[in-house]
Amino acid sequence: MELGFSLSRWAAALATVLVLAMPVRAAGFNDPEDLPEGLGREETFYACIACHSMQVVVRQGMSREMWEDTIRLMVERHGMPELDPKEKALIINYLSENFTASTGSRRGWINPFAP
Ligand code: HEC
Repeated sequence: MELGFSLSRWAAALATVLVLAMPVRAAGFNDPEDLPEGLGREETFYACIACHSMQVVVRQGMSREMWEDTIRLMVERHGMPELDPKEKALIINYLSENFTASTGSRRGWINPFAP
């Protein structure tokens, strides 16, 4: 009986912790796990989180070309170190598969460098 009691208490405590932790995780993007599963997720997270929240990234919905432009902009305008070509390809694949024009809250992006 002792065991049954402490187990259910433990389960209740665990449930409380999970409920409290969930909204924070969903809103925060503090960890690669908070992003959609996929190849390149960790690389993307660590490349972008160096300067700003992933919130800036996940709210976008862009085509592959637009993601390429965005990364070029981060390098040229914001001083992001040039990515290794393999890593860059991985990141662009990840971004353009997970944050496409149909998943982001913004439909597209205006390239400030466009003529
Ligand atoms: C060296 C710093 C740096 C790195 C690394 C960096 N960014 Fe940025 N990024 C900025 C700055 C500065 C801004 C503009 C200020 C802001 O919106 O916070 C910005 C803004 C953005 C925006 C918003 C543009 C808009 O019009 O609202 C997007 C999208 C973006 N970054 C994507 C990325 C992605 C994707 C990565 C990772 C591959 C990345 N950034 C890595 C510095 C960086």
